[in-house]
Amino acid sequence: MAGLEVKDLSKTFRLRSGLRSVALEAVKHVSFTLDPGRTVALVGQSGSGKSTVARIIAQLESPTAGDILLDGKSFGRHGRALREYRDDVQMIFQDPFASLNPFHTIEHHLARPLQLHGKAKGREQVRAKVVELLQRVNLEPAADFVDRRPHELSGGQRQRVAIARALAPGPRILIADEPVSMLDVSIRLGVLNLLARLQREENLCVLYITHDLATARHFSDEILVMYRGEVVERGPADDVILRPQADFTKLLAAAAPEPSRHERFTSVSSRYAQAEAVHRTSSHPAMQAENTPPRSDS
Ligand SMILES: Nc1ncnc2c1ncn2[C@@H]1O[C@H](COP(=O)(O)OP(=O)(O)OP(=O)(O)O)[C@@H](O)[C@H]1O
Ligand SMILES: [Mg+2]
Repeated sequence: MAGLEVKDLSKTFRLRSGLRSVALEAVKHVSFTLDPGRTVALVGQSGSGKSTVARIIAQLESPTAGDILLDGKSFGRHGRALREYRDDVQMIFQDPFASLNPFHTIEHHLARPLQLHGKAKGREQVRAKVVELLQRVNLEPAADFVDRRPHELSGGQRQRVAIARALAPGPRILIADEPVSMLDVSIRLGVLNLLARLQREENLCVLYITHDLATARHFSDEILVMYRGEVVERGPADDVILRPQADFTKLLAAAAPEPSRHERFTSVSSRYAQAEAVHRTSSHPAMQAENTPPRSDS
């Protein structure tokens, strides 16, 4: 199978609470596949385990149980095997400020992964590839950007640089963890359209993590809804949003306004809070597992 398979993934964090150690089950038995030319959206309230799944796929965290298979095979987690894995699997983070180094130029940010992953050698070849990457993310003319530093760019331009950097090793799988939530509402659509175009043109497998049901529906083929570490609903994007089956998704979809032009990209945190409040009293088994309290910032 070409693509990435997540099989029965679980992650338990051990937290210190005074003298005791408490287990926090952040991810419980999550399975899905990422196929070429498709986008899977992972939606869910704050603290439901979305980023933990992403970080495990990107090998920034190790799973407690379960497997991740790339093209049907498991892979090494160190040294050369890890570098080869990262040729194929790259992550885009939420905050383009934090993910770019303020001291380095845009060219440096893109040249490093090109060299590290053996995609370009020598000054001229590297420069040509850097220009090509900037063009792929619509930062043109590229000459205007190469010598700038991250703080000399807008938030949207910075996130495009972060996307270009993720593309540098030539990945087939992109993990985008809330890639537009830190950006001004007016430029989110442009960045999401860019990701959609790259997915289409380059046949990428994309995991799109978001709180936003409207963009999840618009930009994804399949939606998985997470609640307290578990996938409580999954299916084709339209079905999940228009004909939700799980109680939590029903409440979420019912609480969501019609995605009109103005409402489409507004914050959805209140919807989650509303769905959560109503659902707390319901009998869904996932809701009875009270051992994973939502984060205080949720
Ligand atoms: N390194 C860690 N150590 C201990 N607990 C962690 C760690 N990382 C995440 N958690 C906990 O695991 C749970 C899931 O967190 P995660 O960041 O995956 O949620 P999320 O769905 O991405 O939330 P958000 O929408 O706010 O980004 C939370 O309760 C969080 O506090
Ligand atoms: Mg997160």
